[in-house]
Amino acid sequence: MIKIKFNLNGRSVETEVKPSTTLLDLLRYQLRITSVKRGCEVGECGACTVLLDGKPVNSCLILAARVDGRNIVTVEGLLKDSKLHPIQEAFIEEFAVQCGYCTPGVILTAKALLDINPNPTIAEIKDALSGNLCRCGAYHQIINAILKASEKIKTRT
Ligand code: FES
Ligand code: FES
Repeated sequence: MIKIKFNLNGRSVETEVKPSTTLLDLLRYQLRITSVKRGCEVGECGACTVLLDGKPVNSCLILAARVDGRNIVTVEGLLKDSKLHPIQEAFIEEFAVQCGYCTPGVILTAKALLDINPNPTIAEIKDALSGNLCRCGAYHQIINAILKASEKIKTRT
């Protein structure tokens, strides 16, 4: 077993993992962070997306031991003072959630995009979301929600 210590949603976590444990398995099954979904497990669907040092990654492709000393954010970490993040609000308002399986990964990808590009075009949103599949086909609503979130964030800063 390998000892690791990392920051998860603003809190320090110390645990032990097998050398073969993926970040997906650590988060979802060991730490019970259930927003992190198991989909394809080969880096195709984006359901397992988390932010690693602010960048979206497929947690199914990363060994848990590699996150020692690093910073992980899941959708649970977007709440502030029990209030939803503006992206989460916009997803609700634009009905951008159907079954919800893709939603945590899509929201985290959107957050990473809006953090570096607060005013994205539709083409830039589509490009950012190219690694996140929605089996319900809610892409139109998802794009509208991200455009709305961009407006919300700008008016609050
Ligand atoms: S489960 Fe990781 S990309 Fe599909
Ligand atoms: S809302 Fe069902 S997979 Fe996207």
